Amino acid sequence: MLRSISCFLAVALLASVTAAEEPMADATDAPVSYFKQVRPILQTHCQGCHQPAKQGGEYVMTAFETLIKGGESGDAAIVPGDVAKSYLIEQITPQEGSASMPKDKPPLTEGEIKLIATWIEQGAKDDTPASNRELFDMEHPPVYPAAPVINSVDFSPDGKLLAIAGYHEVLLHEMPEDATQPTKLVGRLVGLSERIEAATFSPDGTKLAVCGGKPGRSGELQVWNVAEKKLLLSIPVGYDTCYGANWSPSGKLISVGCADNTTLAFDAETGEQTFFNGAHSDWVLDTVFGVKGDHLVTVGRDMSMKLYEVATQRFVDNITSITPGALKGGLNAVDRHPLRDEVLAAGSDGSVKMYKMYRDKARQIGDDFNLIRAFPSLPGRVMSVAFSASGEQVAACSSLDGGGAVMVAQTADAKQLLKLDVPESGLYSVTFHPTLPLVAAAGFDGRVRLIDVAAGKIVNDFVPVPLQTVAATQ
Ligand code: HEC
Repeated sequence: MLRSISCFLAVALLASVTAAEEPMADATDAPVSYFKQVRPILQTHCQGCHQPAKQGGEYVMTAFETLIKGGESGDAAIVPGDVAKSYLIEQITPQEGSASMPKDKPPLTEGEIKLIATWIEQGAKDDTPASNRELFDMEHPPVYPAAPVINSVDFSPDGKLLAIAGYHEVLLHEMPEDATQPTKLVGRLVGLSERIEAATFSPDGTKLAVCGGKPGRSGELQVWNVAEKKLLLSIPVGYDTCYGANWSPSGKLISVGCADNTTLAFDAETGEQTFFNGAHSDWVLDTVFGVKGDHLVTVGRDMSMKLYEVATQRFVDNITSITPGALKGGLNAVDRHPLRDEVLAAGSDGSVKMYKMYRDKARQIGDDFNLIRAFPSLPGRVMSVAFSASGEQVAACSSLDGGGAVMVAQTADAKQLLKLDVPESGLYSVTFHPTLPLVAAAGFDGRVRLIDVAAGKIVNDFVPVPLQTVAATQ
């Protein structure tokens, strides 16, 4: 029986090898598509350092014209039909195992280099559909006919700036001393990703981690210098948008969750990947490091909250109960108490719960041992949770049938301090001001609401993007 299976497998394997080889043999004559074959290689290996916001060697590879033209050397990067004269090929061809480009990284594979060379030989044609051209960069920021969906709001640690995720960009608003006064748009950080899922200040406030991507095509983690509004890193992350970027407490690492069920972390200085784990069985939607930075917690659509050891990249435990039936709906958000290894998590069932990160007793079937406390739940799906800077309060916001709600409670006893319905819009992100009794919340309708927790009401409500004014017809 076993033998017949392996025989069958061998035959199937052989068949698949020949089937795969045949079209390859034709491929030398078949036209190579820039859009489908060459561009993805450049996107993954080159565009991080060669885009409008970050131009290594003054060379921008995200627009077709500049990709051909080349950079500071003055040499044409690509001469259509002439591989030998194309400087780009010289740069990517390895000499004794290493190539000039991608800089400080392993060279492209032989197959990738051959594909690019064949495309150049065939005339280096641009077959990018008009709808897929890069339209926006720092000099050409997005134009908004209507306010964009806002997936993320975050105050800088000194409370002076509010980072707001827009379309293709993060908007930096300066906070007025009096929160009822208008904020001021002081920066627009336009990168390659269309969709921004999270924009989070580093613990010292000097940098901003931005994650997102182009849905179904590419994921990206960006690191920006806040004062200079300069892109420091653009790291390609898989083939779909990524979520929940968060900093380790020392500011050394940034974690993200991915739609391919993996959790990754990168060195915030070099961009090097330092952590990989695939323990989730569905999208990973949010991440947070422990107080010492040696452990990482994630939540995802598979309804679970997972704990890992950073140094070994190993899965340690499921923090919530994994008993079938104990879980209701995916978990969307997690945050950690600023001083203790206690995490607040929430999701589709509307409940908001705080857990101990580490189990100090063996798991019993059916228990939810790590649960510390449940807070007042919200109508609909909870999309975001946050601790205040002191850890004394928690906040959560939700979305249901086009409306939303915000809740603030005391951490110690779950006493509700604020419950506010926002019927006009589902709310996707909530965050505390570090010093004032204020939370910011935003979501579907693209308006940022500043809510005074003590007064229990909205004190400021604004659209963070410049709206295109439609010329009045006469
Ligand atoms: C980690 C950053 C980084 C990555 C990734 C990278 N480059 Fe570069 N590239 C640079 C920098 C910086 C320069 C300027 C020269 C230098 O410092 O070596 C440069 C210069 C170049 C130049 C010369 C431009 C000119 O006219 O002077 C070419 C061509 C080039 N890169 C192609 C590529 C290609 C193709 C890839 C992907 C396969 C790639 N680079 C990936 C950073 C990078």
